[in-house]
Amino acid sequence: MPRRTAILISGRGSNMAALIDAAQRPSYPAEIALVLSNRPDAAGLAYAESAGIETAVLASKGYLSREAFDKALHARLNEANIELVCLAGFMRVLTKTFVEAWRDRLINIHPSLLPLFPGLDTHARAISAGVRIHGCTVHFVRAEVDQGPIIAQAAVPLLSADTEETLAARVLAAEHRIYPLALNLVAAGKAHVVDERVVIDDARTERAGEAVVSPEFE
Ligand code: GRF
Repeated sequence: MPRRTAILISGRGSNMAALIDAAQRPSYPAEIALVLSNRPDAAGLAYAESAGIETAVLASKGYLSREAFDKALHARLNEANIELVCLAGFMRVLTKTFVEAWRDRLINIHPSLLPLFPGLDTHARAISAGVRIHGCTVHFVRAEVDQGPIIAQAAVPLLSADTEETLAARVLAAEHRIYPLALNLVAAGKAHVVDERVVIDDARTERAGEAVVSPEFE
């Protein structure tokens, strides 16, 4: 049985769309059972609805505290019998209690090669730092923001002519490739956390996910 998975969004939802599309393949080990947004105007909600997926809005403005919001979120996920949760542009810091309740069942995508550039404005910071290689990371979530065992990463070149926008677009294309790959590994039970590092069951599966490079350079 595919694992019942929720995607949490706050906006555009392009990673959400990539996960929805991947999960439509019959052999995919996860089923997107719920898309939940903390903002009623998140553009991604319309795509999820058009794909026939249950959607929910939990407006963060309506809650007095972070704890109260996370408690309602936890209840909503349980009500939908959710087993795995993917954060996809979900612009909220989650409480330690929530993160611990979903330990090793909660994953996030971040637009940098972690542990480099946690936090916001990753593309501008990569350009200022003068790095030649930039990228994205899918990781299990821990209470510290943008930390946690790494499941998959993709590298893209940073070119001299890059602006924040051109770099963001190149990284985003890579995000859309590795997020479905990472969820596949987790949902199939092939990615295990051992001593706060991810161990992938078999070498062939692991090689399939390594060092994805920007499409135009393949
Ligand atoms: C992505 O760059 C993701 O890495 C970051 O927020 C952005 C969300 O974009 N966490 P989208 O909503 O998936 O299009």
